Amino acid sequence: MNIVVFENTDQLAKACACIFAHQLLTKPNSVLGFATGSSPIKSYEEMVKLFRDGVIDFKEAVSFNLDEYIGVSEESPVSYHYFMHDMLFRHVNLKKTHVPNGLDKDMEKSCREYDALIASFGGIDLQLLGIGRNGHIGFNEPDSIFSAGTQVVQLTKSTIEANTRFFDKEEDVPKTAISMGVKNIFKARKIVLVANGEDKKEAIFNTVKGEIDPKVPASILQLHPDCTLLLDKAAAALL
Ligand code: F6R
Repeated sequence: MNIVVFENTDQLAKACACIFAHQLLTKPNSVLGFATGSSPIKSYEEMVKLFRDGVIDFKEAVSFNLDEYIGVSEESPVSYHYFMHDMLFRHVNLKKTHVPNGLDKDMEKSCREYDALIASFGGIDLQLLGIGRNGHIGFNEPDSIFSAGTQVVQLTKSTIEANTRFFDKEEDVPKTAISMGVKNIFKARKIVLVANGEDKKEAIFNTVKGEIDPKVPASILQLHPDCTLLLDKAAAALL
């Protein structure tokens, strides 16, 4: 694992955007993996700046998002479809974007189709990740099996609590999601994980220094051949 610690999240976000810029400059038709949540927001802003400044171009690139809440429509402001559209997709010129469908009647089929679609594009070149306080990646909660492809997941109490900030009240937070599995994530050729703030320091410690154990899904990243962690000082405090 390559670990870089920054003074602040602005620097971290610029570095993350630089990694995406390098990817697009060296392989314009890249398959990019995107995450939602607060951690990558500034990185998306930096990518948009690089696009507006004419440094990078997404016109040949396609994207796959990690996850979506089940039962939430694309148009809902709390959906991850909406988040991605608002933060990135409407500002750049990606050739094609994919976000898991949280409304499919047959979720099992939908999961297999998402896996097949990723495979049909040759797999993910560069995957952006955040990390949950409990060490989840995507929405693969503790004890998710490492060999899982896209799957339906039950969100844990800690994830529901953490995500309440995006909803009016805790009862409104969906309890299930569709998420790329740890296997999909691990198969990405390159991974960049961004984490900032004190509430991520234990998850980062367990990811980097702990046992490789499904109890901390991100710990599998210790075995990835090309994984970079971009951290601020608070998230790196226990390392
Ligand atoms: C969402 C995702 C999650 C988040 C994680 C951290 O697509 O992949 O793993 O990255 O829950 O969320 P924030 O960044 O809001 O703390």
